[in-house]
Amino acid sequence: MKHTVAIYPGSFDPLTNGHLDLIDRGSKIFDELVVAILRNPEKAALFSLEERVTMLEQQTGRWKNVRVDSFEGLLVDYALRQKAQAVLRGIRAISDYEYELQMALMNRKLEPRLETVFMMPAEAYSYLSSRLVKEIARLGGSVHGLVPESVEERLRRRVNGVAPADGRGHSLRASKEKARRSG
Ligand code: PNS
Repeated sequence: MKHTVAIYPGSFDPLTNGHLDLIDRGSKIFDELVVAILRNPEKAALFSLEERVTMLEQQTGRWKNVRVDSFEGLLVDYALRQKAQAVLRGIRAISDYEYELQMALMNRKLEPRLETVFMMPAEAYSYLSSRLVKEIARLGGSVHGLVPESVEERLRRRVNGVAPADGRGHSLRASKEKARRSG
């Protein structure tokens, strides 16, 4: 019997309820879903890779066919190593489409055996993004209902200047202070 494995890749900086909605949908149609966090040393993340893995693991324990991992390099290479047949991506609005189409077609060019499957999150999350969540938190707004409560608490601590234990994510206050000092 065919065993379908899909990779749900992303930055997850931080995990939102929109991501969880997509994980729920993906877990229902694939036998195995690997949530794969991109390890990208070039992109300054608010949360370290370890923190993002922890956040995802804490929230995905309820799905027995979902596991959390991280990867670097090409997504298609990672997907083949995982013996995946598909990449799962969420499309919220038409504005996502262009970038997602480009990425899906490029991935197909690199590895024709891998399919990209798009799913739409619930309408309630169609305007939600990690970028906006970070901005709202930084400006003192409420992100209640947009992210899991534990992520909300982590965001609160991070924007109030609590640096990650491993120093790899960055504190918003520290980076603002650095920007201020460098004029
Ligand atoms: O959550 P994001 O930041 O939109 O996720 C983007 C991600 C991780 C899916 C994309 O940047 C990616 O796949 N990076 C891995 C490197 C790669 O394969 N690049 C070629 C893409 S066509």
